[in-house]
Amino acid sequence: MTTATTPAATWRHRHLIDVDVLTWPEFELIMRVSEEMKGILARPIRKVPALNGRRVTTLFYEASTRTRVSFEAAARNLSADVVSVSTATSSVTKGESLVDTVRTLEALGAEILVMRHAVSGAPYLAAEIFSGHVLNGGDGWHAHPTQALLDLYTMREKLGHDLRGKKVAIVGDILHSRVARSNIWSLTAAGADLWLCGPATLLRGMDRWAVAWSGGAIPGHGRFNVTSDVNAAVKDADVVMGLRIQRERMQGGLLPSLREYAARFGLTAERVALTKPGAIVMHPGPMNEGVEIAPDVAVSGRSVILDQVANGVAVRMALLYLLAGGHEATHVETVR
Ligand code: NCD
Repeated sequence: MTTATTPAATWRHRHLIDVDVLTWPEFELIMRVSEEMKGILARPIRKVPALNGRRVTTLFYEASTRTRVSFEAAARNLSADVVSVSTATSSVTKGESLVDTVRTLEALGAEILVMRHAVSGAPYLAAEIFSGHVLNGGDGWHAHPTQALLDLYTMREKLGHDLRGKKVAIVGDILHSRVARSNIWSLTAAGADLWLCGPATLLRGMDRWAVAWSGGAIPGHGRFNVTSDVNAAVKDADVVMGLRIQRERMQGGLLPSLREYAARFGLTAERVALTKPGAIVMHPGPMNEGVEIAPDVAVSGRSVILDQVANGVAVRMALLYLLAGGHEATHVETVR
């Protein structure tokens, strides 16, 4: 019988707010546990008692479909009690602060708090006052660790576990994207050859990051390129990831028009044809089809977008499990 005892015994993080705190062996640990969880999802009955009696609370201050539903499905698959707070109908609308809301949820029994917030860094504040575990479901422009981890899992599943030297092009609104920021950490740690591409106004600051990192500081020694030439970015790529234009985070003036963006940067079948044979197309969703990605590309044989969604449940099960069991290393034997 395989057992998950070893992974849980070596997990050392109380919270997960970004992937920047993870060492490469910890990334691999999460990938291994996610694979076990994926095995559970393939069973006729997908529920295991690992988090029986534990309370997972989701607190989302920003819109979400897949991330929240995915976390809740993951928690239920592990038999946790799930409480879902929608800020639109909670006392947040009466002016309650994040600190008061978190304290209240803790008094109501929250043990793992999965939160999404429009302000970068908000989960760090929550982690300071919350005695349980904080799992970041996306904060402002800053980080989206579970998305980066499910992206990593999906790339390894489709391209093989060793991503060193694989060319990954991320195309779109890099500036406002927490998905891109977390992916930069995990993919450079994996040793991938990373290309960030978009209009110059949506790449601001990235060139300095690239210069700083290409001085040998890149964890896995992948290369790091920043360009507005989409054909150069996607040429011979193993992975092309489209990102949504996040108009809700823009002050204005950063893009001439969505039509022009689509024409210059949209992932069309012609552009995807420049990639390597067997390359995959990814997108974290929600997609604006016809803007950053053409509808036929989104549903083509290259697209692994729905695999990303499905893998998200397994990866979030792994993280909930590791966070819940990491301290005491109990509950472990009940996974199987
Ligand atoms: C992303 C997010 O919310 O950061 N979506 C997601 O979680 N899958 C990307 C986006 O909103 O464009």
